[in-house]
Amino acid sequence: MKKVFLGLMMLACSTSMFAQWGRPVDYSAGPGLKDAYKDYFTIGVAVNKANVSDPAQIEIIKKQFNSVTAENAWKPGEIHPKEGVWNFGLADSIANFCRENGIKMRGHCLCWHSQFADWMFTDKKGKPVKKEVFYQRLREHIHTVVNRYKDVVYAWDVVNEAMADDGRPFEFVDGKMVPASPYRQSRHFKLCGDEFIAKAFEFAREADPTGVLIYNDYSCVDNGKRERIYTMVKKMKEAGVPIDGIGMQGHYNIYFPEENQLEKAIERFSEIVNTIHITELDLRTNTESGGQLMFSRGEAKPQAPYIATLQEDQYARLFKIFRKHKDVIKNVTFWNLSDKDSWLGTNNHPLPFDENFKAKRSLQIIRDFNAKLDNYTPKEDFVPNPMNQPGQEYPMVNSEGYARFRVVAPDAKSVIVSLGLGGRGGTVLRKDKDGVWTGTTEGPMDPGFHYYHLTIDGGVFNDPGTHNYFGSCRWESGIEIPAPDQDFYAYRKDINHGNIQQVTFWSESTGKMQTANVYLPYGYGKLVKGKQERYPVLYLQHGWGENETSWPVQGKAGLIMDNLIADGKIKPFIVVMAYGLTNDFKFGTIGKFTAEEFEKVLIDELIPVIDKQFLTKADKWNRAMAGLSMGGMETKLITLRRPEVFGYWGLLSGGTYMPEEIKDPKAVKYIFVGCGDKENPDGINKSVEALKAAGFNAEGLVSEGTAHEFLTWRRCLYTMAQKLFK
Ligand code: G3I
Repeated sequence: MKKVFLGLMMLACSTSMFAQWGRPVDYSAGPGLKDAYKDYFTIGVAVNKANVSDPAQIEIIKKQFNSVTAENAWKPGEIHPKEGVWNFGLADSIANFCRENGIKMRGHCLCWHSQFADWMFTDKKGKPVKKEVFYQRLREHIHTVVNRYKDVVYAWDVVNEAMADDGRPFEFVDGKMVPASPYRQSRHFKLCGDEFIAKAFEFAREADPTGVLIYNDYSCVDNGKRERIYTMVKKMKEAGVPIDGIGMQGHYNIYFPEENQLEKAIERFSEIVNTIHITELDLRTNTESGGQLMFSRGEAKPQAPYIATLQEDQYARLFKIFRKHKDVIKNVTFWNLSDKDSWLGTNNHPLPFDENFKAKRSLQIIRDFNAKLDNYTPKEDFVPNPMNQPGQEYPMVNSEGYARFRVVAPDAKSVIVSLGLGGRGGTVLRKDKDGVWTGTTEGPMDPGFHYYHLTIDGGVFNDPGTHNYFGSCRWESGIEIPAPDQDFYAYRKDINHGNIQQVTFWSESTGKMQTANVYLPYGYGKLVKGKQERYPVLYLQHGWGENETSWPVQGKAGLIMDNLIADGKIKPFIVVMAYGLTNDFKFGTIGKFTAEEFEKVLIDELIPVIDKQFLTKADKWNRAMAGLSMGGMETKLITLRRPEVFGYWGLLSGGTYMPEEIKDPKAVKYIFVGCGDKENPDGINKSVEALKAAGFNAEGLVSEGTAHEFLTWRRCLYTMAQKLFK
C-alpha cells in the first residue's frame, strides 16, 4: 500500500498538490531573493537584535538578503539619547554582523521627527536653542554616526518623513484658515523651516563624499504627497543640495496601491533623481497603509487563504513594477525579517516569512518570476470561452492561452479567480469605477480544460459566465484553453456519433443508489445479419472530487471514442464511467486508502448490472479498467488485488506499475501508464522500461505541456484506447 501511495504522490504532485495533501512545503527552497534579483536590484531587510543573534534567523538573512537596515538602533534618539551620550551597543553589533558577512547596509536614519535626539532642541535649562546651535549639534551627530559606519554603508536615509500627509489641504495659523504647509509641522521645521533638510544633506555629504544620500518618506504614491516630495526634492537639488535619491518606504496593503499609482510615482521621481529605493516594504492584510504609528494591530486569527492569495498577488504585481523600473530602482528592502518582528504586529501578517520564520508562498512568487512575461502583452484576439453559458461573453481566451475574466460586483473589496499561473493562488481581478472587475491571467494557461471558481471577499462562487462541471467535490466553473491537437476531441459533424446513457443501480454494500454513465458506440444494438453485436467494456474512473459526469463532460470521452471509431483506429467498445466513491476521502489519510469499498461496488454490483443491461462480452479479456489520479490509484489497487477481472490496466496520472508488483505476468495483456510532462515523466518512463524488460506489453504517454489536468487524460484515453482489446 505505502508503495502504491508513494508512487501516486511522486507522480502527481506539484508543490500545490503537496500543500493540498497537507504536506508542508518549503517555499524557501531554491535560490535566495538576492540571487534571483542579481540582475535587477539589491534586496534588503530591516533587522533587530534577535535577527542578528539567532543562528536560524542569521541563516535566512545571509541566504536571502544583500542589504541590511538597522530598524531602530541607528536612529538619533536610540543611538544618541543625550548630549555626549552615545548608545553604540546594538548599533555596532548590527554593523559588525554585516562587516563579518560581507553585507552592505542602508543607514537609517540621520534626521527624523520621531525617535529623534530631542535634547538637540533645548539647552541645559530646557530652553529652546537657536537653529545655529541645533545645526551644530545635528552636524556633530551626523558626522559621528556616518564616520563610524560609512565603511559598511552604501546609502543613507538622511532626512525621513519631512513632508505633510495628504488629506489636510488647509490648516489654522494664528486662528486663520490657510493652505496647509507642504511640510510636516515638526520641531525641525518650526525651528528651521525646510532649511534643516538642506543642512542635513550638506552635513551627510561632508561626512560621506560617496554614499548615496536619500530623502525617505511614506505614502509617496498618494497624489498630493508625491507632488510635495517632488517639488521639495527638485527645489533642493536645484539649490545644490546633494540629494541623490528618493526612498519610497512602501508600507502598503493587499489592496493598495494599484500598479498605475505606484508606476506614476516612480516615473515622476525618475524625472529628478536616478536612484529610488523601496526602503520599508510590507503589505498589511487590511486597508490601512503608511508609516504612521496609528494602525490596527489585527486579530489573532488564522489568515483566510484568499487573503494570502491577495497578498501574494500584490507582492507579485509590485515586484513586476520594480523589475520594470530596474533602471532607477536600486534596492527593495523589507521592513522586518518576519511577521514576528513586524512593527505592525504578527496579526497583520505583512511579510514573506511568517511568525515562525517559515517562508510563505509569497516568497516563492516574488523569487520565481518569469522575466519573459514581465514586458509581454498578450495578443488581443480574445474570444468567448467555448464552455460559456449562452450569450455570455466572458470568460474569454486568446490564441496564446491567456484567459480574461469579467465579474460585476460593485461593493466587493476583492475578486479572485482560482485559475492563474502555476504555483499561484489564482488571478486577482481589479475593479473599475463602474464596479466591474476584470483581469487577465499573468501568463498563458496550459492547453485544455481547467476547473475554477471565484472567491469574492472570501466567499466561493461560480463564474456566472460558464457552465458548471463537477470537480473538487462541487460544481465548479470551467474554461477550455485551445490546444494544438484539439481535433481528436472536437465534435465532428461529418461522422456518426454514439451516445451516453445514465445508469442507476442499488448498491447493497454502500446502502445507496449508485450512478454510472455508459458510452455506447454508434450502431449499438442494431441487428447486423440478425444478430446484435456484443462489445468489450472499458471501466474508466475519474479522480478525487469528481464524479460519473467528469469523463463524459470535461473528459469528452464520448467524442474521443466517436472520432477514434470514425477514423478506424479502434473497434467500437462500451465505456462505463461510474462514481468511484472518492469524495469522502480526507486529505492526509491517503496512506490508509484501500479502494476496497469501490472494489465491492465495481466488481460485485456494477459489472453484473452492466453485463445484464448491455450487450457486453462479459469476460476478463474483454474488460479493461483505467482511472485518472485517485481513480488511477483505485485501478492499481483493484487490478493487483483482483487480476482475474480485468485484462487491460491503465493509470492516468495515477501512479505506475512495476514488474515485481504483478504476481502473474500472464494476468494482464496490456498496461498503460501516462502523465503530463509537468508531473513526473521519469516515473512513467522507468515503469514502462521495467515492464517491457520483464516481458509485459506496456505503453506509456507523457503529455506535452500539461500537468495534472484533463487534457493529459484525454490524450491518455486517446492513446490507450487504440491498444485495448487487441
Ligand atoms: O527602546 C525602547 C525601549 O527602551 C523600551 O523598553 C520599549 C518599550 O516601549 O520601547 C522601545 O522603543 C520602541 C522602539 O521602536 C525600539 O524598539 C518604541 O516604543 C517603538 O515605538 C519604536 O517603534 C519603531 C517606530 O519606527 C518608531 O516610530 C518601530 O520598531 C519601527 O519599525 C518604526 O519604523 C519606522 C521607520 O523608522 C520609518 N518609517 C516608518 C516606520 C514605521 O513606523
